[in-house]
Amino acid sequence: MGIVNVPLGNRSYDIKIGTGLLVRLGAECARLGLGSRCAIISDTNVAPRFGRAAQRALAKAGFVPKLVTIPAGEQAKRLKTVEACYNQLAAQRIERKSFIVALGGGVVGDLAGFVAATYLRGLAFVQVPTTLLAQVDSSVGGKVGLNLKAGKNLVGAFYQPRLVLCDLDTLASLPMREYRAGLAEVIKYGIIYDVMLFQRLERDLPKLLRRDPPALASVVAQCCAIKAEVVRQDETESGLRAILNFGHTIGHALEAISHYGKYLHGEAIAVGQVAAARLSAQLLGLPTREADRIQDIFQRAGLPTQVMLNAPQRQKLLAAMQLDKKVSGGEVKFVLARRIGAVEFGHRVPLAMTEQTLNP
Ligand SMILES: NC(=O)c1ccc[n+]([C@@H]2O[C@H](COP(=O)([O-])OP(=O)(O)OC[C@H]3O[C@@H](n4cnc5c(N)ncnc54)[C@H](O)[C@@H]3O)[C@@H](O)[C@H]2O)c1
Ligand SMILES: [Zn+2]
Repeated sequence: MGIVNVPLGNRSYDIKIGTGLLVRLGAECARLGLGSRCAIISDTNVAPRFGRAAQRALAKAGFVPKLVTIPAGEQAKRLKTVEACYNQLAAQRIERKSFIVALGGGVVGDLAGFVAATYLRGLAFVQVPTTLLAQVDSSVGGKVGLNLKAGKNLVGAFYQPRLVLCDLDTLASLPMREYRAGLAEVIKYGIIYDVMLFQRLERDLPKLLRRDPPALASVVAQCCAIKAEVVRQDETESGLRAILNFGHTIGHALEAISHYGKYLHGEAIAVGQVAAARLSAQLLGLPTREADRIQDIFQRAGLPTQVMLNAPQRQKLLAAMQLDKKVSGGEVKFVLARRIGAVEFGHRVPLAMTEQTLNP
């Protein structure tokens, strides 16, 4: 088992990565000294697969777990679902010392984390991420929240889990498309922080596409270590944490104009990262060869690297970029790469140049 610590003073916690970890969930929670009652929040795809195993593991360690199931999908990440969860917690007499286990992908993690942050003014919570995206990204760092009609992730909090348990076995049932989308975030860590990781991904991509456990274990651990380091330095995103948004300015806009239906998040940010690499070549001197390598690896991972937009769609995309919640003072700021492994945040990019990049 690999362990990555997220060092945040008295809010520090471990990310544990390996196979066969779900059966140890109870023992791991016992080590944290949590109260006996708990609620496992999961979704309609994940609960039938892993809900029983999680309940059994917790019961074996003396806990009294209740399973709360929410609908699968991004649509469920809203206030109505939060309220339904609160009502079930109340019915189960979840109390101040109780805790919440988030068992699922990023939707479950963000929503269950928000429920934990707010019910009874805050309950301890444990993340058990079951998608690749959740294991390398959303379960780590304490951003929890939900969507409004007006936009994604507009309501939320910074609320750190007490433990993150990444059981790689759970990834076996993940649909290939979802798995590839997670790889888009994995590749991102190489580009923003670690050229050695990037090289390794270029080499080991076939193994990763086969979900080879040893390759996966060490890559997930490396990604979590990078995210932990970034979060340690800038927990609430006043600066450095913004580098995690490489490729996300265009990616989020693409998701928004396609009404979050056409592209998975990972697919949209693959397109966004390739576009950001092209902009980096023009504005920061990223060698064209490296921009090509970036495009190649996304292609080899089976992810889209560009989209065909007509002129009105391009205008919509540029408009959506300016509405992104990361915009400050009306200016769209980009994360750009000087070379693979070294990025800078806060770069202004002329709109015309972005438009040109999207229309190769
Ligand atoms: N908090 C953060 O820092 C952060 C970072 C990145 C993304 N996010 C959020 O994460 C969400 C996306 O997460 P996601 O990609 O994990 O999506 P998701 O939670 O919707 O999961 C994707 C799909 O896979 C299913 N699934 C999950 N685990 C499975 C398994 N092991 N086997 C079979 N099916 C499984 C789910 O039911 C769902 O249908 C978005 O809401 C995004 O805003 C948050
Ligand atoms: Zn992302």
